[in-house]
Amino acid sequence: STFAMDEELIQKINKLQDAFATVGQNNPVDLPQIAVIGSQSSGKSSVLENIVGKDFLPRGSGIVTRRPLILQLVNTSIPKGSSESEPVEYGEFLHLPGKKFTDFSEIRNEIVKDTELKTGKNAGISSLPINLAIYSPNVLTLTLVDLPGLTKVPVGDQPRDIERQIREMIMKYIDRPNAIILSVTAANTDLANSDGLKLAREVDPEGTRTIGVLTKVDLMDKGTDVIDILAGRVIPLKLGYVPVVNRGQKDIDNNKSISKALEYEKQFFLNHPAYSNKAQYCGTPFLSRKLSMILNHHIKATLPEIKSKVAMNLSKYEAELEQLGNPLDDQAGGTANTILSIITEFCNDFCMVLDGHSNDISS
Ligand code: GDP
Ligand code: NA
Ligand code: MG
Repeated sequence: STFAMDEELIQKINKLQDAFATVGQNNPVDLPQIAVIGSQSSGKSSVLENIVGKDFLPRGSGIVTRRPLILQLVNTSIPKGSSESEPVEYGEFLHLPGKKFTDFSEIRNEIVKDTELKTGKNAGISSLPINLAIYSPNVLTLTLVDLPGLTKVPVGDQPRDIERQIREMIMKYIDRPNAIILSVTAANTDLANSDGLKLAREVDPEGTRTIGVLTKVDLMDKGTDVIDILAGRVIPLKLGYVPVVNRGQKDIDNNKSISKALEYEKQFFLNHPAYSNKAQYCGTPFLSRKLSMILNHHIKATLPEIKSKVAMNLSKYEAELEQLGNPLDDQAGGTANTILSIITEFCNDFCMVLDGHSNDISS
């Protein structure tokens, strides 16, 4: 089915991402991915946790996200009618292969631990990403990159130029033409002042690969709403805006579950006079479906380009390997060999997928 094909495609892209991550952060191929940006406290973590349906991201004041988190969501649901039991939900880090985290608070601890390991306790940021895959029957297969929030004022022993550093890191992700930008802005702040949208505009002036998310719709003044923004009358984006309602700080302090929060969000839009007639285009489940659709479409459109770049890298690694002589004997050769075999496998996969798609198109 088309759905199964889409799932397979994203997973192949995920594998490719992991393979290049093992050779260093300078990914030679511009892989399609969704980069999440916005001001500090705009609600980025809340949006991601709602999409995943789990509490798993570090919390706190100040700059909590200090390294990019490449979050691969993998849908593991069993086809309807199958006798297999529902699979367990778990996370797995690329830096801890084989270790399945079924307790999501341990995922949070590991993110904090590995962040501190590479950046120190309160200090700076690092562009070295953390790669985390989450396998669950409750997610749509999707890859998102959580980035540090845009901030103005350094705190504690943060470097003075923290604002510029964060900006540059975000830019590295979003100026790639194949990046989709998920720009998060709190609805109770002025859209024209949105740091996320300002940055997105610099690299995507036509607004063709930027999706707007409006958080905190529940905190807007009585009588005001985001209808003008949704209608494209404020800052138009071709991919549009999705309004959401996440948990407030009080909800989090009271341990309100995400499932309760999602039910509240649903009722909020259904019962709100401004949104009730368009409630199906509001909220987290709609956002997830929309992101999945956009990412799939985007991957298919960029597949020929990805394939040729991967093939180019394959020949590059082959040439390097040849120069090393007998690679199995030394460590560098061993690493090159491993990478070569991974990329070769992907190349084969990609050729097959590509053929499958050209058949789809011709039929
Ligand atoms: P981040 O810094 O962009 O990752 O923002 P967080 O997701 O950590 O959210 C910052 C604060 O805003 C937290 O206290 C959240 O509980 C709160 N928050 C986020 N989204 C919403 C929302 O839609 N409604 C309400 N009431 N509070 C929200
Ligand atoms: Na913002
Ligand atoms: Mg955050």
